[in-house]
Amino acid sequence: RIFFFFLWLKFGFIFNAVILVLQVTGAGSGLGREIAIELAKRGCKLAIVDVHSKGCYETVDLITKTMPRCVAKAYKTDVSSPRELQLMAVKVEKELGPVEILVNNASLMPMTSTPQLKSDEIERIITVNLGSYIMTTKEFLPKMVARKSGHVVAVAALSGLVPLPGAGIYSATKYGIMGFMESLRAELRLSDSDYVRTTTANTYLMKTSGDLHLLNDAGISSSYPGLPTVYVAEKIVKGVMLNHRMVYVPKIFALSVWILRLLPTKWQDYMLLKFYNFDVRSAHLFYWK
Ligand SMILES: NC(=O)c1ccc[n+]([C@@H]2O[C@H](COP(=O)([O-])OP(=O)(O)OC[C@H]3O[C@@H](n4cnc5c(N)ncnc54)[C@H](O)[C@@H]3O)[C@@H](O)[C@H]2O)c1
Repeated sequence: RIFFFFLWLKFGFIFNAVILVLQVTGAGSGLGREIAIELAKRGCKLAIVDVHSKGCYETVDLITKTMPRCVAKAYKTDVSSPRELQLMAVKVEKELGPVEILVNNASLMPMTSTPQLKSDEIERIITVNLGSYIMTTKEFLPKMVARKSGHVVAVAALSGLVPLPGAGIYSATKYGIMGFMESLRAELRLSDSDYVRTTTANTYLMKTSGDLHLLNDAGISSSYPGLPTVYVAEKIVKGVMLNHRMVYVPKIFALSVWILRLLPTKWQDYMLLKFYNFDVRSAHLFYWK
């Protein structure tokens, strides 16, 4: 069994090539692009979805030039618009076939504190980061259940497990993803539909296009540099292939988070501020006064 399992891990893409259609939101750059490349290597047909058409086409070019036999198509879509989502879903299924793996990854990452955000900015972050994950799932999941196969993947963050002072709205959406995905998993299980799998990926800071000035100000990115997206994508895709419910990158964070939760509140705060290495003077960035 172990032998066949490793054989499948190594060569499983040959079988997947025939059946899997994958849709990655926010695949025009950063982690989404790397996840798409990683899954292309395993033979998936890809629907590259992003609000920026330039990024979409760049990802498609990158994949088709390095892997000429791979099928990848760009779908410029604003995932915060239910209408655009529905149109894109119809187009993807018509052109590529039924979606087997849905990867929700698109996100806005303003490391800006709540008092400094306008109401419409807050609404937009919540709609893109959380609303779109729910709406895409609502669009594709019923068909997965009807076909009795599929996989819903959500990219969350470690700031969905521990608070990120100074980025409360971003952190709230990531906690929200966790709640949604965990409920979804339980709902599928309770309705005997757990042949559709779910994976939530919680990753630490990465070297991408995110607006990370607040973390730089707080000294966090110099103390704990970001991870390369290629490494994170590899870990996530491996977790998806193994049907893992949760993927933590790096793994050690899972342990630290659960230990932190067992501590009294005062100790939690102490550890958190020690970790973020906040200079009290830079904390004015997120003061509510
Ligand atoms: N960068 C980090 O340090 C970090 C850490 C933990 C988790 N994450 C999470 O990883 C995921 C990817 O992050 P990233 O660093 O690659 O981000 P990124 O900014 O490089 O990429 C996000 C992509 O989403 C797209 N996008 C934004 N709004 C959209 C919309 N309305 N419709 C369609 N596409 C839209 C953008 O165009 C962009 O291509 C996000 O969910 C993020 O929250 C990032």
